[in-house]
Amino acid sequence: MPELMTRKRLFRWECLFLLICVVDSTPPEYPIKCSSKRSNCTITNSYGAFPDRSVCRAAEVVYPTTEEELVAVVAQATTEKRKMKVATRYSHSIPKLVCPDGQDGLLISTKYLNRTVKIDASTMTMSVESGATLRQVIDEAAKTGLALPYAPYWWGLTVGGLLATGAHGSSLWGKGSSVHEYVLELRIVTPAGPKEGYAKVRTLGNSHPDLRAAKVSLGVLGVISQVTLRLQPIFKRSISYLVASDTDLEDQAISFGNQHEFADITWYPSQRKAVYRIDDRVSSNASGNGLYNFIGFRSTSSLVLAMIRSLEETEESTSNADGKCRNSRLTTSTLTTGAFGLTNDGTTFKDYPVVGYHNRLQASGACLDGLEDARITVCPWDPRVKGQFFHQTTISIGLSNVKNFIQDVQKLIELEPKAMCGLELYNGILMRYVKASSAYLGKQEDAMDFDITYYRSTDPMTPRLYEDIIEEVEQLALFKYGGLPHWGKNRNLAFDGVIRKYENARAFLRVKELYDPLGLFSSEWTDQVLGLKGGVSIVKEGCALEGLCICSQDIHCAPKKGYFCRPGKVYNDARVCTRVSSHK
Ligand SMILES: Cc1cc2nc3c(=O)[nH]c(=O)nc-3n(C[C@H](O)[C@H](O)[C@H](O)COP(=O)(O)OP(=O)(O)OC[C@H]3O[C@@H](n4cnc5c(N)ncnc54)[C@H](O)[C@@H]3O)c2cc1C
Ligand SMILES: *[C@@H]1O[C@H](CO)[C@@H](O)[C@H](O)[C@H]1NC(C)=O
Ligand SMILES: *[C@@H]1O[C@H](CO)[C@@H](O)[C@H](O)[C@H]1NC(C)=O
Ligand SMILES: *[C@@H]1O[C@H](CO)[C@@H](O)[C@H](O)[C@H]1NC(C)=O
Repeated sequence: MPELMTRKRLFRWECLFLLICVVDSTPPEYPIKCSSKRSNCTITNSYGAFPDRSVCRAAEVVYPTTEEELVAVVAQATTEKRKMKVATRYSHSIPKLVCPDGQDGLLISTKYLNRTVKIDASTMTMSVESGATLRQVIDEAAKTGLALPYAPYWWGLTVGGLLATGAHGSSLWGKGSSVHEYVLELRIVTPAGPKEGYAKVRTLGNSHPDLRAAKVSLGVLGVISQVTLRLQPIFKRSISYLVASDTDLEDQAISFGNQHEFADITWYPSQRKAVYRIDDRVSSNASGNGLYNFIGFRSTSSLVLAMIRSLEETEESTSNADGKCRNSRLTTSTLTTGAFGLTNDGTTFKDYPVVGYHNRLQASGACLDGLEDARITVCPWDPRVKGQFFHQTTISIGLSNVKNFIQDVQKLIELEPKAMCGLELYNGILMRYVKASSAYLGKQEDAMDFDITYYRSTDPMTPRLYEDIIEEVEQLALFKYGGLPHWGKNRNLAFDGVIRKYENARAFLRVKELYDPLGLFSSEWTDQVLGLKGGVSIVKEGCALEGLCICSQDIHCAPKKGYFCRPGKVYNDARVCTRVSSHK
């Protein structure tokens, strides 16, 4: 009974968590820490943990404020044959893209390289330095009556970082939802020979062939200093969320993307529900001043975060699937009732459709704001407090395979109905449209991107509830359906052999060889991902639990805890860590 009471109270807390938006908050921690002013540093990502949980070191960090300073920095490091990596204000990528090898690496931060260089209303173009955040681009463009048509949903990304990893929003219209499709010109600083002073600025215009390499580069070609984007006149959108059963999702998934310009779908497989975002451009005289302030990106009380995390940890350790399912239904209903953070006028939600200007609807990130040192509220994943800690599996599957993939996931749910309540706690599977790209490392065909977030234990050796089912979904997407992992998310196994999925990989590598022949901007991780050096798998005890490997032996799972390496239930070629009850 007392336990029941606590649980009830926690549920109420969770409701609060989802509804409260506190103004006083702590901005995310700066990802670079140095023992003396700018030397002997470590760098991490915004979650405070890379997939292998290693700590990345760099000998030094520099903060160029102009392109000239940038050239000087790259020239100096090139003469010293020093490894370099570009670091951004928040460092949002999950994989170890930002780590320079060895102990002597140099981090080049774009924190102060964030000016808007030029906005031209007549040509509808905007030039920014690469450290400018998405929020800045959206805000500045809007002031001139312009808009970036498609973008990721999160304000905190920088232009350099989101291009490097191929970040996108959701659309099958026009050139699609990836920001790099709207790059008109890009300036990149690369190493050079002595005759050119060891560094040079390369200007890649729209028709320059190397732009196909540079617009999605994983950061291995050099430092992008400036980017010119093609914008559109600002417009209004009309958004409605429609909650429906997922029984015909496999058929709807494709047609829906053709029906609505900004369509996306959030899928809750265990609840057998899908939420369709009906989202289109409307005439700019349509009335409404709607705002999107996504609930999951708001500042959240650290007390509440700790309680929610504790509850989830308890449910995990007691294998309480029913508890997770109850909780996920509550989370989903709270989110849908709250219109996911949409309001008709900036303060209250009355009804759909929500109509408003694109710049107020396309992205959000309220938790980025805040007072330093007021440890009251934070972004929900802030590693300084006990809060969300998760894996993210984000894979795009060619449209022709989407139907079969969805059906396979539904078969898994038929076998294990409660298996996906855990990821529904993190707002289900976000499904977004992306189009084939001319970028060498961009999408190979029109695709649907499946974004799955789920519990990660603080202990790397602890398996999670329905570990096997989520691993099977991951392997279905990657191997049976040949999906492409998002460069800035995912666990190591997603990148094993990934480069073979890119038809123009060699063309990319030729540009890399030309721009940075010594590989100063490359690291062990990028060499592995690009197929230049071994694989990305780390094979050791328990490695499959963290996605560092695909299990091939029981020891890669957690045999002492009853988890053994077994074939998948729907996809026989999958190898997943399955809880075998006779060993309980
Ligand atoms: C809350 C949240 C929401 C997200 N939402 C989306 C989304 O809606 N859609 C989506 O596609 N992704 C999304 N992402 C993932 C995100 O797109 C990637 O993680 C993104 O690359 C991170 O950008 P960043 O500016 O933090 O770059 P970082 O992670 O710091 O850097 C990424 C890579 O780019 C390189 N790099 C950065 N700047 C430069 C430069 N100037 N020149 C050369 N190389 C450079 C770095 O060296 C590194 O290799 C989200 C991430 C978070 C945390
Ligand atoms: C570098 O920093 C670490 C702590 O992060 C410290 O232990 C070490 O002594 C420092 N080394 C130097 C040379 O300052
Ligand atoms: C650029 O970044 C600095 C440091 O984060 C910040 O203080 C400044 O406001 C930013 N400039 C713009 C135009 O956003
Ligand atoms: C919006 O303007 C168009 C002409 O530009 C007009 O035809 C239409 O009726 C207007 N709609 C509203 C809702 O005022």
